[in-house]
Amino acid sequence: MTKFSVDELVNSFSLDNVQLKRIADLFIKEAESGLENDGQPMTMIPTYVTAIPSGNEKGTLLAVDLGGTNFRVCSVNLNGDGTFGIVQSRVAISNELMVGTSNALFGFLAQQVKKFLKQHHEDHFAEDKGPEHVLKLGFTFSFPVNQTAINRGTLIRWTKGFDVKDAVGKDVCQLLQEQLDKLKLKVHVAALVNDTVGTLMSRAYCSPGKQETQMGVILGTGTNCAYVENLNAVTKIGAETVLKLSESSPMMIINTEWGSFDKGCLTIGQTLFDSILDSETLNKGYHMFEKHVSGMFLGELLRLALVELHTKCDFFASQHSDALFKPWKLDTSALSFIEADTSTDLDETEKFLLASLHLTSTLAERKSIKLVVDAIGKRSAHLAGAVIGALLLHTQSFEKMPQVDVGVDGSVFKFYPGYEKYIRESLRVVVGEQNEKRVAIGLAEDGSGVGAALCALVA
Ligand code: BGC
Repeated sequence: MTKFSVDELVNSFSLDNVQLKRIADLFIKEAESGLENDGQPMTMIPTYVTAIPSGNEKGTLLAVDLGGTNFRVCSVNLNGDGTFGIVQSRVAISNELMVGTSNALFGFLAQQVKKFLKQHHEDHFAEDKGPEHVLKLGFTFSFPVNQTAINRGTLIRWTKGFDVKDAVGKDVCQLLQEQLDKLKLKVHVAALVNDTVGTLMSRAYCSPGKQETQMGVILGTGTNCAYVENLNAVTKIGAETVLKLSESSPMMIINTEWGSFDKGCLTIGQTLFDSILDSETLNKGYHMFEKHVSGMFLGELLRLALVELHTKCDFFASQHSDALFKPWKLDTSALSFIEADTSTDLDETEKFLLASLHLTSTLAERKSIKLVVDAIGKRSAHLAGAVIGALLLHTQSFEKMPQVDVGVDGSVFKFYPGYEKYIRESLRVVVGEQNEKRVAIGLAEDGSGVGAALCALVA
């Protein structure tokens, strides 16, 4: 293995300033055409959420969250002072349910709600309760939907390994409501919430009066962003609707579904590993930006790069590992782990490669692997920073407010060492040094629970 070819592999993941600016330019174009017309690459979904919490909201609401490998049921107490209490339960979604029928999936979800109510809201089952006791539920459903009202939305397509074919084109709130009704639960699905919208709402609720939250970003299994848009810019909903809604508010939260940005990889590029990875996914050719950025894919990109180093560059010489050739064998935690290893001999990395792939390695190999890991993680964060910057330019946020607040959630952001630093590097390139300093980026607390409850409350 010559040093040059490791460099080549590492460089294939890097984005220079010119590319970052081109990415931002294309992003603004795609965002604007998504606001004007349906059927655009970036869907820019109107959420019909037209108010940002002030922190004074009060009440007890249910929230359920389907967006990855787990399903969560929560009961949220909003205390009205920017704080909340939450009781929750979590259950794994089996692979069969992820690719089965909508009846099976939504029936399972409703059963979990029933179980939760039995455990935590036994009073709910009392005979004498009238309609005023119907519990409002916020449904965090983190997949692209065509939303037509606060609690109406038809599924456009599945992402993140789900493929329940007969649900596509159906109203997911109705699918859940029907199953809840079958179980005779007094629960009303009041709001359909993308996790990014929940993130924005919960960040705003939890930091009342401190700053203006403009965006909710998820950098986890998948990636996406919701932001505050001027209602007049959402021309695709029609002048009449805009006029009607603007009687009560000048804004609407838009769910960008930025995972589908730059479908053709014109600006974000496509390495050999990106193409192989895409061919292994259920939604081939879709959500290419997400496949460069989010946690579901970073581990696989690393595995593919390791296969290349092994087969072409003699890494792990004369060893054979079935695990190395097994698609999806590594998850993002592999990258976080190796990135965090600062020991001189990279001992932790050595142990990790041995335990997960049954491979021994030389120090020189581990040093190269660490460079590859860093390149994959850095590209992910640089892409995220570039599009955050692009949205802030599009909304002219720097002209409107002294400080801009971005709420973020998701395992990649939380656990990848140095991720925010890399986000800021590309943000600086896109919005300039002075403006970058005016952007606060902070963790949002439980957007898919608290945020969904907030949406159900305002619905
Ligand atoms: C989905 C989005 C979601 C994001 C983060 C993507 O795959 O399309 O709706 O917000 O994942 O969970």
